Amino acid sequence: MPPLSLIPESAPFSAEQRAWLNGFLAGWIGLQGDGASAPLPAGVVPALEGLAGSAPAALAHSAEDFPWHDPALPIDERMKRAEGKPKQHRLMAAMAQLDCGACGYLCQTYSEAIAAGSETSLTLCSPGGTETSKMLKKLVKEPSANGHANGTAAPSPAANKAPAAPAGWSRKNPFEARLLRSVNLNKPGSDKATHHVEIDLQPDGPSYEVGDSLGIFPTNCGELIGEVIEALGASGDEPVETVAGVSSRLRDALERHCCLSEVPEETIGVLAESATDPAEAEDLRALLEDDAPIAGYHLLDLLRRHPTTKPRPSALVRTLSDLKPRLYSISSSPKRHQGQVHLTVRKVVYAFNDRDRKGVTSTMLADRVAVGSTLRVFVQKSHGFSIPADPGAPAIMIGPGTGIAPFRAFLHERDAIGAKGKNWLFYGDQRGESDFLYEEELLDMKARGLLTRLDTAFSRDQDRKIYVQDRMIERGKDLHAWIQDGAHVFVCGDAKRMAADVDRALREVIRAHGGLSEDAAAASVARLASEGRYKRDVY
Ligand SMILES: Cc1cc2nc3c(=O)[nH]c(=O)nc-3n(C[C@H](O)[C@H](O)[C@H](O)COP(=O)(O)OP(=O)(O)OC[C@H]3O[C@@H](n4cnc5c(N)ncnc54)[C@H](O)[C@@H]3O)c2cc1C
Ligand SMILES: NC(=O)c1ccc[n+]([C@@H]2O[C@H](COP(=O)([O-])OP(=O)(O)OC[C@H]3O[C@@H](n4cnc5c(N)ncnc54)[C@H](OP(=O)(O)O)[C@@H]3O)[C@@H](O)[C@H]2O)c1
Repeated sequence: MPPLSLIPESAPFSAEQRAWLNGFLAGWIGLQGDGASAPLPAGVVPALEGLAGSAPAALAHSAEDFPWHDPALPIDERMKRAEGKPKQHRLMAAMAQLDCGACGYLCQTYSEAIAAGSETSLTLCSPGGTETSKMLKKLVKEPSANGHANGTAAPSPAANKAPAAPAGWSRKNPFEARLLRSVNLNKPGSDKATHHVEIDLQPDGPSYEVGDSLGIFPTNCGELIGEVIEALGASGDEPVETVAGVSSRLRDALERHCCLSEVPEETIGVLAESATDPAEAEDLRALLEDDAPIAGYHLLDLLRRHPTTKPRPSALVRTLSDLKPRLYSISSSPKRHQGQVHLTVRKVVYAFNDRDRKGVTSTMLADRVAVGSTLRVFVQKSHGFSIPADPGAPAIMIGPGTGIAPFRAFLHERDAIGAKGKNWLFYGDQRGESDFLYEEELLDMKARGLLTRLDTAFSRDQDRKIYVQDRMIERGKDLHAWIQDGAHVFVCGDAKRMAADVDRALREVIRAHGGLSEDAAAASVARLASEGRYKRDVY
């Protein structure tokens, strides 16, 4: 029998590392010659394409090894759990813990690469945002105990290696895909706009599976760029070079390459040098010591707070971090929509300092890209978040808000392959009248029997808030019976509050209906996860 190849040739490993990983994974999942496989344990990364510096150790995260590795924990708690650990572990605790690949690494390998000095950018974790980049900066500055640049042990060869040249479509080699459609799913009266987005991948674009995410490189909004150029007193035609070494004109750099929502320390320094008003220069220098007064500020806010700062565009652009891609859970199945990928994107808009702020990627997809125009995209493989390998296994899907996205894909996929397993969806949003995303489609699935059960929780349709976890508790007896029957439980959506509340509800259902103690119920949920039957895709 030829050697099994589970690791793509394009993954950034040496021949020895690839051979080791293939053996390790094949042994773990008990892959037979006929290709039959057991489900991967939770936390195992089934495909590593496009992730730089992934080392074998990154494949298995356990709560004992990495007690901070939970996206539902706030950063303070994560840092507390990593106290006294080697620096690369404290760096890892600062990441958003999603292992989403938005940075081009996993949380562990990104931190190893920073610790080893092979990665110098501290702003790549877009889900962690400023909170993460600030903590990374603080940790990197800490004096070293052993004389190494970052105070860590010698880097592993994989972490030290430059990412391999891309083969095929990837984050480093994105596909130019055409936008086919972008329509608001919310109805009049809603406080939200959530767009169903269809993108043409054509036969030669990247391929994907349900559970994967799509990475999209955004461009900044023209109106914002105009305001920044005006605040700089520039024309937009000035030649500049970005932090990544791309030469262009100021306007193009601001549109395609520069992140305008972060204000790196180096930018504050450049502004301080150029301020002609001594009070403004003083204020900026003070911000270099303590930037708490400008928490939440974007570049434009800072320029407007200090109107006499007119840095040379070339000096400014060199300090701005790169505009990073955002990830979206894929809401289609390639078996149902060949050559296309669908997303479910909530438009981010909010007010700050009397100025309307727009999320760069979500508003681009909702408002700024014309049908037929192109987007730079890549597929980010999921970390084991997919339909049950056994088509007969029941699936329980809990996905309020945009958390519905992967479950639409799961349902289309199970329909397309004729999977006989039962499907139960818990869905919720603010109001049934205006916020029931994919209402018609889901009701049709229910009518056809594809969705065995559909429970909704519209939080604002009554005085008391009702959430998906309340429905889980109400339906606890049946939920417990499904789980006893081998159901897989999936959760998608908000990491900050929903995921932890749903986890608590799941433990409560198992405790109450399994006649268990709290500890035994928690152990039962942990066992579900270790068997690969409890998976979360939260952000
Ligand atoms: C694995 C994964 C899957 C995801 N799937 C989806 C999905 O299916 N659908 C979806 O819509 N999103 C999804 N996201 C989120 C998505 O990647 C983006 O983070 C989101 O669209 C915002 O990006 P943006 O560029 O529009 O906004 P940005 O320009 O990045 O702005 C967002 C930032 O603005 C700030 N902000 C937002 N609201 C406020 C407020 N009210 N007050 C103050 N500050 C605020 C926050 O700092 C926030 O991080 C997913 C994320 C991950 C990691
Ligand atoms: N990084 C970003 O900028 C970005 C962009 C898009 C989405 N997101 C995040 O992604 C998540 C999904 O956003 P979304 O608009 O699709 O939906 P959402 O904000 O999660 O709202 C969906 C439903 O969940 C309810 N909800 C609120 N708190 C909950 C809790 N603790 N447990 C269970 N349900 C709860 C909401 O109720 P109420 O609103 O009535 O309380 C609403 O009915 C949110 O966390 C959102 O902030 C982030």
